[in-house]
Amino acid sequence: MWKSVKAAPPDAILGLTDAFKNDPNPDKVNLGAGVYKDDRGITPVLASVKEAERILLDGEQTKSYLPISGDPVYAECVQKLLFGEHSDILTSRRAVTAHAPGGTGALRIGAELIKKFNPDGAVWVSAPTWANHKGIFAAAGFAIKEYPYYDSDTKGLKYAALIDTLKQVPAGDVVLLHACCHNPSGVDLTSNQWSEIAAIAADKGWIGFLDFAYQGFGDSVEADRTSVEAFAAAGIDFFISSSFSKNFGLYNERAGAITVVSANADEAAVAKSHLDVTVRVCYSNPPAHGGLIVKTVLSDAALTETWRNELSEMCRRIVAMRSALVDGLAARGVDQDFSYIKQQRGMFSFSGLTDDTVAWLREHKSIYVVGGGRINVAGLTPENIDYVCDSIAEALKR
Ligand code: LMR
Repeated sequence: MWKSVKAAPPDAILGLTDAFKNDPNPDKVNLGAGVYKDDRGITPVLASVKEAERILLDGEQTKSYLPISGDPVYAECVQKLLFGEHSDILTSRRAVTAHAPGGTGALRIGAELIKKFNPDGAVWVSAPTWANHKGIFAAAGFAIKEYPYYDSDTKGLKYAALIDTLKQVPAGDVVLLHACCHNPSGVDLTSNQWSEIAAIAADKGWIGFLDFAYQGFGDSVEADRTSVEAFAAAGIDFFISSSFSKNFGLYNERAGAITVVSANADEAAVAKSHLDVTVRVCYSNPPAHGGLIVKTVLSDAALTETWRNELSEMCRRIVAMRSALVDGLAARGVDQDFSYIKQQRGMFSFSGLTDDTVAWLREHKSIYVVGGGRINVAGLTPENIDYVCDSIAEALKR
């Protein structure tokens, strides 16, 4: 069967982790996949998560199947986190949520569901976007189109071009937007810009799909909701994929959720029935553990408080490393201005390093950066920052 089949290329992001693991250089640094590391270079299990796991282990009675869309209390916790406890989306019951395996699982389920009812629709993704977005939607049968987003000259947004393009998107097409902490650029829309975009969605009839993989990594859990609130206020149907990989550090538990917001409770019930059918044929029902952790933390005020503090600490460390990188490069006499890295939000820095520099860093210094120059700032530590700054300075002075 495989004789005449060519091997697939390694994954643009996770393939770097494999290459990093096989690299014998003791100085190697992985700034590829978006995984948080603490000052010691460890991806920790959060204390709130450990405590939730203790509670779960003591109280566990069964490992029987979850419902197809997961534990309803988990869905409620996710919705409160997404919309806020007092949102009318909750009281009107116009949203339904299914526990999905990670943000990727949520995106794929959402894509499959939309494809079923809009078979001719295309998906529009930002230029650039997370490397896996195109693959996920292409696998669900979507044609992929791009809207302008990041301006590499100004290191900001191509806002006018973005708006112009969104006004041309046909009704029924999907527009995939990064709810906060745009990956890879770290450049986000303001609250007013979100409202303008939601108004265009309402006017033109395209379907907004908000990828919310980094809630809490921008300003705060609440402030990062601006995008969701703008779409909710527009009174239109939209989709949200959530991931708890980053904000709960639950990378390998695959805890995420797909939320479908529709016009009213009756339509939401119809959406839920089709969400269940879609999940059933993909993975039947979700893996329990990660979702149970999130539910346990968010259902307990003290644990929620601990989790919020841990999330703040992750953000504080990332911001500190942004400064250390910019200041470290300036201190080494690098001419190029990297100060924009301090303004970018979330885990990543769209560094402005060229693919040639990225390749040199990997080959000569065993520093792994995603193609296009995306650096996982959360992978920088007090221990490796000097080596990374020295190496980038050397690369740029070649
Ligand atoms: C990333 O963008 O590095 C993360 O979301 C990990 C992944 O799955 O690509």
